[in-house]
Amino acid sequence: MELIQGIRERRSIRKFEDRPVPRELLREVVETAAYAPSWKNTQTARYLVVDDKEKIRELAGEACMLGFEKNMENLSKAPAVVVLTGIKGRSGYERDGSFSTSKGSHWESFDAGIAAQTFCLAAWEKGLGTVIMGLFDEKEIAGRLAIPQEQQVCAVIAVGYPQSVPEAPRRKNAEELLTFWEA
Ligand SMILES: Cc1cc2nc3c(=O)[nH]c(=O)nc-3n(C[C@H](O)[C@H](O)[C@H](O)COP(=O)(O)O)c2cc1C
Repeated sequence: MELIQGIRERRSIRKFEDRPVPRELLREVVETAAYAPSWKNTQTARYLVVDDKEKIRELAGEACMLGFEKNMENLSKAPAVVVLTGIKGRSGYERDGSFSTSKGSHWESFDAGIAAQTFCLAAWEKGLGTVIMGLFDEKEIAGRLAIPQEQQVCAVIAVGYPQSVPEAPRRKNAEELLTFWEA
C-alpha cells in the first residue's frame, strides 16, 4: 500500500468483527512501529497487548474509562487492546535528570503520539482497524495491569478487524493549515 494512501484512508475504527487478532500479526505491527522517530532515538514507547476478554471488559468498565460511555462500548467489543506506555524521564531529559528544553516533559507525550500513529498506520496496512483513546483513568489502568512505576500510560488503543470503515471526518484544507513565513 502506498504511504500517502494509507495516511489518507486510515480511519478510527470503533466497531470490530468478532474474531481474534493473531498475536504474530501484532508482533509484526510493533516491529514496524519500532521505526517511529523518537527523542535522541530513546525509543521509550512500549506496547502492552491485552487480548483476554475478561480483562478487556474490566478495562472497558466505568472506572478505567471515566464513565465515558462511548469508549466503554467501543472497548468492550474490541478483540485486542494495546496500552501504549512510555518510559518516564528519558525523552526530553539530559542524563543528569534535568530537562533539555524549556518544554519540560512535553517530549514524552510527543514521542508517544508519533509511536501511536506509526502503530496505527502499520496496523491499517495489515488490515487491522484501531482507535486511539485519550479518555481514560491512568491510575486505574496502570493498577489493573501492573504497569511498572517507571512507565506512564500514554494512550489506550482498541485493535481489531473493522466491521466497516466510516467516512473521514472533515479535514481542514492546506490553505487553512499552512502559512509560508514572509519577511
Ligand atoms: C490523542 C487522541 C485521543 C483520542 N481519544 C479518543 C477517545 O477517547 N475516544 C474516541 O472514540 N476517539 C478518540 N480519538 C480519535 C479521534 O476522535 C479521531 O482520530 C478523529 O475524530 C479523526 O478521525 P479519524 O481518526 O477517523 O481520521 C482520539 C484521537 C487522538 C489522536
